[in-house]
Amino acid sequence: MCGIIGYKGEENAKEKIAEGLKKLEYRGYDSAGAAILANPSIKVEKAEGSVENLSHNFNGKAGIGHTRWATHGGVNKANAHPHTDTEGKIAVAHNGIIENHSELREKLGEEKFESETDTEVIPHLLKKKLSEKKLEKALKETLSELKGSYAVTGLIESGEMIAFRKDSPLVIGVKENSFFVASDVMPFLEDTNKAIFLKDEDYAVIRDGELKIFNSGKQVNRQIEEIDWDAGQACKNGFEHFMKKEIHEQPETVKRAVFQDRSDIEEASKMIKDAKKVYLTGCGTASYAAMLGAKYLRSQGIEAYAEQSHEFEYMASHIDKDDLVIAVSQSGETADLLSALKKTDCPVLSVTNVVGSTLARNSDKTLYINAGPEIGVASTKAFTAQLTVLKLLSYAVAGEISKGRSSLLETAEKLEEVIKTNERELEKISDYLLEKDQCFFIGRNKGRELASEAALKLKELSYIHAEAFPGGEFKHGTLSLIEEGVPVFVFMLDDETNSLSNAVEAYSRGAELIGCGLTRQDVFKYFIQVPEDDNREILEIVPFQILAYETSLKKGNNPDKPRNLAKSVTVK
Ligand code: F6R
Repeated sequence: MCGIIGYKGEENAKEKIAEGLKKLEYRGYDSAGAAILANPSIKVEKAEGSVENLSHNFNGKAGIGHTRWATHGGVNKANAHPHTDTEGKIAVAHNGIIENHSELREKLGEEKFESETDTEVIPHLLKKKLSEKKLEKALKETLSELKGSYAVTGLIESGEMIAFRKDSPLVIGVKENSFFVASDVMPFLEDTNKAIFLKDEDYAVIRDGELKIFNSGKQVNRQIEEIDWDAGQACKNGFEHFMKKEIHEQPETVKRAVFQDRSDIEEASKMIKDAKKVYLTGCGTASYAAMLGAKYLRSQGIEAYAEQSHEFEYMASHIDKDDLVIAVSQSGETADLLSALKKTDCPVLSVTNVVGSTLARNSDKTLYINAGPEIGVASTKAFTAQLTVLKLLSYAVAGEISKGRSSLLETAEKLEEVIKTNERELEKISDYLLEKDQCFFIGRNKGRELASEAALKLKELSYIHAEAFPGGEFKHGTLSLIEEGVPVFVFMLDDETNSLSNAVEAYSRGAELIGCGLTRQDVFKYFIQVPEDDNREILEIVPFQILAYETSLKKGNNPDKPRNLAKSVTVK
């Protein structure tokens, strides 16, 4: 959801910005832009679409860049960041939303605005303050007037680079006398693994070789942390797309998710057992992991519920301080989730991937899924790793951590085989789907969340309309959409008999059935085969990730960058 990058240091900034933007493009690809402090003035370049459309002609030792996922203002060059003040002496790149931008625009009436964005008020406002005050004071006052969420990096013609944040992620990479400012660690990992995660309402000023961080007018010390992801993990490693690489990493990432520190799992399991009720929440793919997590915990006698975070907000007032919220999120930056958590005052246990993320820093306890960077916009390896950690937790609640570990490791061992066994069938199914403009997914109990996740993957990547239903619900209305040749995917995971009956109800009305499970039935046109396993839901989703990927490719889409979407949804 918009990526920002800044560099000020000893090397040419244009290369750092160009490389950094490529690593951030998964956060938005509506437009891109860069600004370089090319002494004596700031030079700005913008382009619609991909970061590849920028030519990076200017040289300098400081620069900023932006890749946009549009919120305010259409997708065009004028709305691309960086935005500047009227004289072009300040340039900023922003991720987030300035809620009071209309009010501020009015107040700044005499200034010349060139875009429809909320962001453009920032350089104008800062410029106004700077005409009367020193930079640090001007920044403090600017922040106090901005309402909403923001992560901003900027350049001042006098030579400084600035950074500030509230409710949007921002991290500073430190390499001796050079500094990076970025939405996440990815763009600077090749240069340094030392990072400072700015706290809410921190603002930073970088002058030659020196970084100073402030909060509420006072200089503060923020710890430098070492990130144990290596830059290689953020490369495609010979795969055509990140998504394909991430799908094929799963035999490894499921194992890494299993290897939680025993004391961490025990502590988390104690939090669950001590809670009156447990609520799990997340968005999109992570919400389906949360729903499955609630089912795992219920099977161990825990009173557990799940709700998607944007709806969770509305039930938050019923949550007691003796309850527990389990927050599931790959990025740990999803605004809907973070906002929902602010409405509760009970402990939070988070299950996340990104070390140092806002979620991790604001939780009472964090279990990392250890999946390594997930760059494909569609979540794949994070989902199976989230399920692994949640399942392990349910084993821990039953006092069976070792049993859980061996069982999940056995599952990881079977993933490779599931991918290989189904390769040819998936090829055929993806060809078949090219002729279709809608399809349905059904399943019962755990199969219900698999149906939802499989439908989400297919629609977000192939743009084929795909809907998921609990198998039993189909006949209560949606069955009327079934006509000759409509594909219905059925997960034969839990309650096989009734799952099959629900599928046959559609088949009798002309649907073509694609089954997934242990045994092929005559009514299935195609069949995805998985072996018997205690954690079969982790195995069953993987072929559907491949199906979505293959169908997307055959339709000429870019599976790493589905239209209208971006990774890390940092706006509500
Ligand atoms: C779908 C997908 C999204 C994310 C959702 C939550 O493939 O990736 O639905 O799962 O936006 O993101 P995180 O897990 O970062 O909170």
